[in-house]
Amino acid sequence: MSTDIRSDIEGMKAEVQRIGFIFAMRAEGQGLIDRLGLTEQGRLDPDLPACWVSGRVEGGSSGRDLEVAIVFAGEDPYHGCDRIGTLPATMAAYLLCRRFRPDLLVNAGTCGGFQREGASIGAVYVGGGDFLFHDRRIPLPEFEAFGIGRIPAIVDEPMRMALGAESGIISTGDSFAPTAEEQSFFERERVTCKEMEAASLASLSRDLGVHFLAVKAVTDLVDHPEPEASAFARNLNRVSQILVERLINLLEWMKVRE
Ligand code: ADE
Repeated sequence: MSTDIRSDIEGMKAEVQRIGFIFAMRAEGQGLIDRLGLTEQGRLDPDLPACWVSGRVEGGSSGRDLEVAIVFAGEDPYHGCDRIGTLPATMAAYLLCRRFRPDLLVNAGTCGGFQREGASIGAVYVGGGDFLFHDRRIPLPEFEAFGIGRIPAIVDEPMRMALGAESGIISTGDSFAPTAEEQSFFERERVTCKEMEAASLASLSRDLGVHFLAVKAVTDLVDHPEPEASAFARNLNRVSQILVERLINLLEWMKVRE
């Protein structure tokens, strides 16, 4: 199964004309909306806060046009914050895939990085190896592997280079603060990026047969004495700008006909 998926990447660029982005937070994605001049499209479902924007990126004389959409899970009306985490992201991405029908879904955003794997603040990674879940501990024989996920990532080298990103293992969980057990998991699995959505979106994309890419920029270091939350708050805006520049590079590369 995973071999088939990996070989699918051959010629993926030629197949991709409609690109859907999903960001967990507005602060991470607003810069890309502004740069591309995309138009607000409102809610994807009248009963959910998930909202999207879309538009066309002109190819110019040497390229082809791309259709681009960005979806957010939206603001939680009860708590007044972005609906981060796997469940809202998966629902929003599902709605976007059904409405917009992307050829490629890109989960872009920020993450906690691990210094021991070479991460530093502002570094950008594309998900490599397998996507993991670090908080789905199910010690029952037939469910254990399902809990961890191990959803194969597709790393297209030319695409990675166009992004200016390193490849790293991404692990997903619904908590920002890790437990001691999760810390051992990160070390054992050589995780480089810890975040809260990618593996669930990789799983959805596999089910829907949509190409998937996770691009994550490091706002804080998990294996560093400074608390993750304070580094995250301090670096969020600056690192989100770095991320937007890399995503623009990706779109520029996508536009060029081979
Ligand atoms: N997003 C940014 N930093 C993160 C962290 N340390 N953990 C989970 N998600 C994050």
